[in-house]
Amino acid sequence: MPDIAYVNGQFSPLEQATISIEDRGFQFGDGVYEVVRTYGGVPFRLHDHLLRLQSSARAVSIPLPLFAAEWESLIREGVKRSQYAECLAYIQLTRGVAPRAHLFPSPAKPTVVMTFRGIAGTDGVLLREGVSAVTLPDLRWGRCSVKSLNLLANVLAKQEACDAGAMEAILVKDGLVTEGCSSNVCLVRDGTIITAPLSDQLLAGVTRAVVLELARKAGIIVEEREVPEEELTSADELFLIGTTIEVLPVSTLNGVRVGDRIPGPVTQAVSTAFQRCILSETGRG
Ligand code: PDD
Repeated sequence: MPDIAYVNGQFSPLEQATISIEDRGFQFGDGVYEVVRTYGGVPFRLHDHLLRLQSSARAVSIPLPLFAAEWESLIREGVKRSQYAECLAYIQLTRGVAPRAHLFPSPAKPTVVMTFRGIAGTDGVLLREGVSAVTLPDLRWGRCSVKSLNLLANVLAKQEACDAGAMEAILVKDGLVTEGCSSNVCLVRDGTIITAPLSDQLLAGVTRAVVLELARKAGIIVEEREVPEEELTSADELFLIGTTIEVLPVSTLNGVRVGDRIPGPVTQAVSTAFQRCILSETGRG
């Protein structure tokens, strides 16, 4: 099945797609992005992702070159062309092509790039056995609610985690847990889910919103409040959430086992509810 790209109005096989070396996304990381996943060819929570794309673009003053309905039909078209039932759609919007200078180019003509590739379902072993995580200092900028292309600090932390044998780094700023390099983080204590509140310090994850809503509907208490780093080590359960990983239990943190069962009962309940939600919204889970 073909990996597909879309660049400024043109679909092509991914390997044939090119953009200018003077694109500001390449020169400055001057852009924003989204990652959407499909189940059975149906994008999950596409509307939520497009709303966040809109808000990220607005936050960094990049004009949106397409209406919401146009984004939506292009994404559906890309998914269809790729023929992947389980597809990862990457959507990137940059401030456009211009000779390298920090100031915004005028007039700006934003670049739209999308890629559509296959994604394997989340590994059942990881769901059953959990993944390792480490804590690392959050060295990112002050507007992490923007889904910016500038991911250098995330990349470095993820690599450091991987070099330490872990799958994710849980980031800590001023003693408080923010999120993972590419995930949101929840802990469970006495049956209550605890996660950092939305702020400039973390991304308002689409999965986070869905999972917290499902948990509340299932009668699980959810606290969105500051999470001191020490609470991680005494958690009964710890799990990561995000588009690509869904709900993933953490089995060890900094080499120390988390809780006494993987997945813990709350993580399992949330994961099952999430799979049901995917099934009911897309027809496939
Ligand atoms: N990232 N926090 C960060 C820093 C992220 O990069 C992501 C997802 C999330 C989870 O957000 P959502 O539930 O909307 O996927 C939280 C994507 C998948 C990525 O960069 O590949």
